[in-house]
Amino acid sequence: MAEKGKDILKAADLLSKNALVSIPTETVYGLAGNALHVDAVLKIFEVKNRPSFDPLIVHISKLSQLENLVSYLPDNARTLAAKFWPGPMTLLLEKQSIIPDIVTAGLPTVAIRIPDHPLTLELLSILAFPLAAPSANPFGYVSPTTAQHVDDQLGDKLSYILDGGPCQIGIESTIIGFSNETPVIYRLGGKSIEDIEKVAGKVLVKKHSSSQPGSPGTLSSHYSPNKVVKLGDLTSFHGRIDLARTGLLRFKEYVAEFPKENQVVLAHSGELKEAAKNLFAAMRDLDRMDVDQIVAELLPEEGLGRAINDRLRRAASSA
Ligand code: TXA
Ligand code: MG
Repeated sequence: MAEKGKDILKAADLLSKNALVSIPTETVYGLAGNALHVDAVLKIFEVKNRPSFDPLIVHISKLSQLENLVSYLPDNARTLAAKFWPGPMTLLLEKQSIIPDIVTAGLPTVAIRIPDHPLTLELLSILAFPLAAPSANPFGYVSPTTAQHVDDQLGDKLSYILDGGPCQIGIESTIIGFSNETPVIYRLGGKSIEDIEKVAGKVLVKKHSSSQPGSPGTLSSHYSPNKVVKLGDLTSFHGRIDLARTGLLRFKEYVAEFPKENQVVLAHSGELKEAAKNLFAAMRDLDRMDVDQIVAELLPEEGLGRAINDRLRRAASSA
């Protein structure tokens, strides 16, 4: 178990000594270390058991910090940053040499965002360096949305968990690169395509394959519980699976003819925002249930529904 609390000075002190601290954000909890120090960054890869080809996101608290970290800012990046930061959006920008190559896995671009959480913004504002932070879960597993989720899996490898309560968005940031001025979505996330297109014009969405991921870490099989996940309506599996050994992930309502204790509903309100906030905790609940497999219903393919479906498809993928 790691110590949990709201002590920003303690977190800052540990981070200044190259120790790792888990930080709350509006999307998911991060596993943070000094982004400008190779020793701290190496520890992140080690604790997460993350392959070194998978680059990290660098977290800052002020737009002015970009000046020292990136060498070029497309107009559209400036527009998006002004509109959506702090918030669940990460921009891929040409990096300056102050950022160690290990942070970007040798890529010429660095992923940067300003997260929207009061504790972490305050922490970042007193630090003399930005924080590299992947989601605070073992590589490939479901991201954590509470301090307890972090403690459950990485507690014995961490110095401190800054406890900022449950994450309000609940799904990782949308990652956006630029092809000249055109935004290219590398990972669907907490900021919807519809919102992005309103301020930055038409976007392209990068397609991924498991062997050649467009964004090194966006492998098809990811965000996965330990149990087998199958996608679809319960009726489509009729006669093919053992219903007594199945857990259901549902969008708005329970299936009447199925035991309630084997079901998790994402959003009784029917709102995609609520579903996103509950998604990862629901996957963890289903993973702990005494069942052999999970059948997950896909959500409407719009707004945050697209990002939720993306995570469900990856959870279901074995590639
Ligand atoms: O919401 C989030 O983004 C959370 C919180 C903690 O900020 N972080 C997060 O980090 O989800 P992580 O490491 O789990 O996912 C980062 C993704 C990876 O898929 C990685 O491949 C991609 O960002 N990425 C990072 N740098 C990149 C780059 N230069 N080009 C393409 N993809 C990049
Ligand atoms: Mg992750």
